[in-house]
Amino acid sequence: MPTDLALGIHDLSFSTTSLALSHDELSRHNGTDLAKYHRGIGQRAMSVPTADEDIVTMAAAAAAPIVRRHGADRIRTLVLATETSVDQSKAAGIYVHKLLGLHPHVRVVEVKQACYGATAGLQFATALVHRDPDQQVLVIASDVSRYDLDSPGEATQGAAATALLVSADPALVELDRPSGLFTTDVMDFWRPNYRSTALVNGKESVAAYLEAVEGAWRDYSAQGGLPLEEFRAFCYHQPYTRMAFKAHRQLLETCGVPADEAAVERALAATTAYNETVGNSYTASLYLALAALLESEHDLTGQALGLFSYGSGSVAEFFAGRVRPGYQEHLRRDAHREAVDRRRAIDYGTYRELHERTLPTDGGRHDLPHQTQGPFRLAGVRDHQRVYEAA
Ligand code: COA
Repeated sequence: MPTDLALGIHDLSFSTTSLALSHDELSRHNGTDLAKYHRGIGQRAMSVPTADEDIVTMAAAAAAPIVRRHGADRIRTLVLATETSVDQSKAAGIYVHKLLGLHPHVRVVEVKQACYGATAGLQFATALVHRDPDQQVLVIASDVSRYDLDSPGEATQGAAATALLVSADPALVELDRPSGLFTTDVMDFWRPNYRSTALVNGKESVAAYLEAVEGAWRDYSAQGGLPLEEFRAFCYHQPYTRMAFKAHRQLLETCGVPADEAAVERALAATTAYNETVGNSYTASLYLALAALLESEHDLTGQALGLFSYGSGSVAEFFAGRVRPGYQEHLRRDAHREAVDRRRAIDYGTYRELHERTLPTDGGRHDLPHQTQGPFRLAGVRDHQRVYEAA
């Protein structure tokens, strides 16, 4: 078994929905001071799915450019991480497998642990590639974040999917071996099976996240991880972008380093560009932060990045990646900016209507209106089965 093999992220592509609700529009509806949204939580807009978009259509849209660029011959595992699952039994990734036209010799599974799921998928993927470096694993994170209308969580909704191709000799980021782990049973955020919106103890979720930063970092250090000063930048899970800044101050405090605001800004500013307009994409969010950082104007060649993944409930992991030489040639900057910019702005009434929609449960045939601008759509439900098609 090779021990010094470089393993990590070979390609990264994301997609989001066709609609966006701005926080200007939300604040016009609910009277909240816009500065609370823009400065207090650091959010400007949130992606909203059309009636024919869901985690499957976003996941396939995120992964399709990867399959086009690299082919699918070496992909033998597809892991789809989500907490917005569409079925209790069938893995959503099987629909994605079909939409992408993958060959049948692929294992497809779904993983869940709130916003942490994709990181579990990424770690499982590196183990599989370590066992057989000729294989590649497609890890897709796809989520739609939904809270009750007029609740404090409403301003922190969003939706996106991130697809990562994990391979040996990766083009973008090599993942380091030690991970810092932290699990504790806490009810900060959860969604029982009978609910379509999450329940959250907002302040408790912030406190639980910060406790996990400290716990995961202490374990990371105990496992022989890099010292703080080795890291050029940090990507945090961003339920809202200001949370990353709280998290980083917590990390500095844990390390006994005074939090110099300019240094905090320097370490994080380049990671928020997508999340501040896409909103919370749950398990995809950390990897949108990574995309924004890699696509920023900074040359990160050879630099160590700290990644912190948090999933309420809760499980957290701190791990490091090193940026590979030549990574800039493999980025998807234009496509990602276009995915964000082409979203159609909607008014509050349209958002509310979409938010209140549910799919029929009577087992009849129900066709959905063609609204998406994306390459795949949920055409309808028939006999309790979702029907997907190329748009
Ligand atoms: N101008 C500038 N900043 C303002 C402001 C104004 N007019 N009004 C409030 N703020 C700031 C607050 O000071 C606060 O900053 P701080 O966090 O640094 O203290 C921030 O905006 C949020 O205000 P707060 O009153 O705490 O908001 P809230 O009660 O609406 O709750 C969340 C915010 C994030 C807890 C809520 O949106 C939520 O529950 N979200 C879902 C759960 C979540 O994302 N959890 C994160 C961990 S997973």
